[in-house]
Amino acid sequence: MIQFFVNGQEVQYTPAGQSKKCLLDFLREDLGLTGTKRGCEEKACGACTVLIDGETKRSCMFYAEDMQGKQVTTVEGLSKDGRLDPVQAAFVEYSAVQCGFCTPGLIMAVHGLLKKNPNPTEEEIKKGLRLNLCRCGTYPRVILAVNKAAAVLRGEEYPDYVPLDLSKPGSFIGKSIPRVDLEEKVRGETKFYADYYFENTLYGKAVYSPHPHADVISIDTAPAYQVPGVQLVITAKDVPGNKRYGVLAPDQQVLCEKRVKYIGDMVAVVFADNEEAAEKGAEAVKVEYEVLPGVFSIEDALKPDAPLIPDPELPPYWNAYVAGEKGNICKEVALHRGDVEKAFAECDVVLEEKFSTPPEEHAWIEVDGALAAYDENNVLTVYAPNQSPFADLVQLMDVLHLKADQLRVVHLPAGGAFGGKTELTVHALVAIATMKTGRPARMVLKRKDSLRTHPKRHPYFMTYKVGANKDGKILAMQVNIMADAGAYVSWTPRVLEQGISYCTGPYYIPNLDLKGTGVYTNNLVSGAFRGFGALQSHFAAESIIDMVAGKLGIDPVTIREINGLERGLPMTTGQILTDKIGVDYKNTLKTVRTVIDEMLLPLKKPGELIGIGVASGWRSVAGGLGPVENAGAAFELMPGGRVSYRIACTEMGQGSHTSLAQMASEVTGVAWGDYDILAGDTHNVPFGGGVMASRGLFLWGHPTIVAGEQFRAILLEKSAKLLGLPADSLTIKDSKILVTETGEEKLTLAKLAEMSDETLVVEVDFTLPKSNPVLPNANEDGQVDPKDYMPHHTVAYNTTVAVVRIDPATGAVEVLNVTEACDGGQIVNPEAASTQIEGAIIMGMYYGLVSDFKVVNGVNVADSLGKCKVPRFDNMPRNMKVIFVDAEDPTGPFGSKGVAEIGGLTPAPAICNAIYDAIGVRVHDLPVANYMKDIKAALERKKG
Ligand code: FES
Repeated sequence: MIQFFVNGQEVQYTPAGQSKKCLLDFLREDLGLTGTKRGCEEKACGACTVLIDGETKRSCMFYAEDMQGKQVTTVEGLSKDGRLDPVQAAFVEYSAVQCGFCTPGLIMAVHGLLKKNPNPTEEEIKKGLRLNLCRCGTYPRVILAVNKAAAVLRGEEYPDYVPLDLSKPGSFIGKSIPRVDLEEKVRGETKFYADYYFENTLYGKAVYSPHPHADVISIDTAPAYQVPGVQLVITAKDVPGNKRYGVLAPDQQVLCEKRVKYIGDMVAVVFADNEEAAEKGAEAVKVEYEVLPGVFSIEDALKPDAPLIPDPELPPYWNAYVAGEKGNICKEVALHRGDVEKAFAECDVVLEEKFSTPPEEHAWIEVDGALAAYDENNVLTVYAPNQSPFADLVQLMDVLHLKADQLRVVHLPAGGAFGGKTELTVHALVAIATMKTGRPARMVLKRKDSLRTHPKRHPYFMTYKVGANKDGKILAMQVNIMADAGAYVSWTPRVLEQGISYCTGPYYIPNLDLKGTGVYTNNLVSGAFRGFGALQSHFAAESIIDMVAGKLGIDPVTIREINGLERGLPMTTGQILTDKIGVDYKNTLKTVRTVIDEMLLPLKKPGELIGIGVASGWRSVAGGLGPVENAGAAFELMPGGRVSYRIACTEMGQGSHTSLAQMASEVTGVAWGDYDILAGDTHNVPFGGGVMASRGLFLWGHPTIVAGEQFRAILLEKSAKLLGLPADSLTIKDSKILVTETGEEKLTLAKLAEMSDETLVVEVDFTLPKSNPVLPNANEDGQVDPKDYMPHHTVAYNTTVAVVRIDPATGAVEVLNVTEACDGGQIVNPEAASTQIEGAIIMGMYYGLVSDFKVVNGVNVADSLGKCKVPRFDNMPRNMKVIFVDAEDPTGPFGSKGVAEIGGLTPAPAICNAIYDAIGVRVHDLPVANYMKDIKAALERKKG
């Protein structure tokens, strides 16, 4: 028996059998200390960090058998008497947390660092925490938090952080209220899906296709049943309903029966009493394939004799060419305005350039997976870190052949999502196992499997032709975007519609000819990823506009001012920019010009290779483009006086629950901390679409305000009745019923709940105004009245300025500064919004510099988290600043828009423009890392 100490308590472990027990599993499974997370299997992420005898260690690399006599400390062992320890408290103070999946490991790593070095410099902090990944990009705030915690632990005074406040007196809107999820995340108490261990669970392991394109000849599951512990093997025959699913077109196979089309396709899943048996069982399943020629490039896919990838048996689908009626073309989008050829002939400068961007992996630290079990009402329930519980429900009902009252989907906090958790992965598989056995089922994918399963950012191949007159006015733009969709439709049609709508940049260009084509291949599926089709085209548009400016000798801010959109002008789609939707692009330019002149130009020292680059961005808030977008909100007064606030809006660390609670308090008078927020449980919250398209706040803010006003009214009416006073003589403030005139307290909410003879509850559904599909010639062919044409509800803008220094010896690119001026409408919670944008900047910057999720012959080269090149502490810009421009959006709740995506669109082109400014090397194909040869050659030329 092994005896050691965990968080000061003696524990005992009796080794069983030959195989050793990983310390991480022992902590999580045997002791229930689930604050310590598993993110990889290779020491790459640090989510499993603990202290062993005071030193930082990765618990996934140790065995319980080797712990004899040792002291192990986990995040659960930090707080004393319920109070946060100084590191946890500093993480809360500086909002150094987003999704929170990496947070417990990071906090333990900070403790290890400060034990060794109580007063670290910024460089020492970065180095000391280098092995801990945070995909949400909380790094700058963690450094601030470490400085504070270090000072407190040394017993020194340290000033309190003063959060940004953009509120008006007496209002909750614009206040940086601490996020409601911070404290439980720093304590390691937030339960992610893999932290739930139901009794008698079956563990699932999928059998993936080793081939990107093959016919399945036979599947023999019998050998798997010979493995002790294996209870069930499912194949396509076991899918009770539709054997296909999909967010837009139901074309993706739950389990493949006849043909596999990419290496994420599964043919069987083995469920066993434990993980090891499931893995052995999966290895034992015998599948015979006939390998087919694969199609791995757009060029090959469009050849007349290319193998057809979409299934001709499927019915045509309105939004995509599913059935192969256009060969391997999945979707085409076009927009036209004016006469580009005539306009090009009149231009003083015309440039035509090609650009490309690679696929990108989300690389969230929490791997894909899902759980299923029957709930207390015997309803089959699927638990997952999903972004769209109701969309999942609809697809699962079809696949499982169940009605809405027979199936429940419960969202659990996501450990990073970034758009990639809007689709089903293994949800149906665990549900089928539970339906067949009655036992709970669990699939927590290994990183290698997670990487091949979920869709990536679309690789784009783009040709841009731009013409301008000598005054800098852009007269014409022609764009051709080819996007690799991978093997299934996924989000490709919508990605292309968004990509084309925003591919010009936020400019008025009178003559346009824009075309986007999505093409099926046998590569990994492409889908939703923060920026949703617009990020790739921003790189091209903002690069070529800089090139035009350079040709004309116009500075980069001025050319954007000359062409920038303003009120009364049509956007790229033809939608006229009116007072009704966001019109504040030029404010971002004004802000950035001041920053450049006053702060950044002085950085350009003679003799140093320093460059400054600018890029502007825009994208819609909410989906638009035609489909109905609606969401509900419910408020209910509970016994004890707390208020249940129920919404479908899911939380991935973006802080929308806190911001929505602020909106609620603004109208109800209930204190913002008095809500119990229930989110994303399809049986217990009103319907709402997915959290995507930067719309969490925008979509749920509206029903929250309407329901909040009604809720306040019924609370006042009931109070008035009970008190025998007129309702209009009362008000609610800080959860108390007061006499308006005197401020005299009459009732608390707890008392009101106790006295009330009925349930005080309100539920409201809100539908955004109808939007229109993108039309090829919206304002010119009479299809719609331009006044009424509204593909998008509103638009957010930003302008980024980046400063880079090139090392003259090595050619390395160092990012010295990234400043973003952002129009997100009225900012509801400035700290929450800033953390979102900072994270997006780091993600967007690294996308430009390094990210390259290479897929060779349909197989991803990066098959581990370590190989995905996720930015680390030492990959941040030296300085980073987010500035919110003064803006309000009349369409948004309390004038707000959304900022989840806008911040990431422009760092890559701004950095590439800065590199050109520094050294004259133009990047056409991301990432910048592939340009070292050119940069070194330019350095040699300079030396020469
Ligand atoms: Fe670090 Fe999400 S907060 S990974």
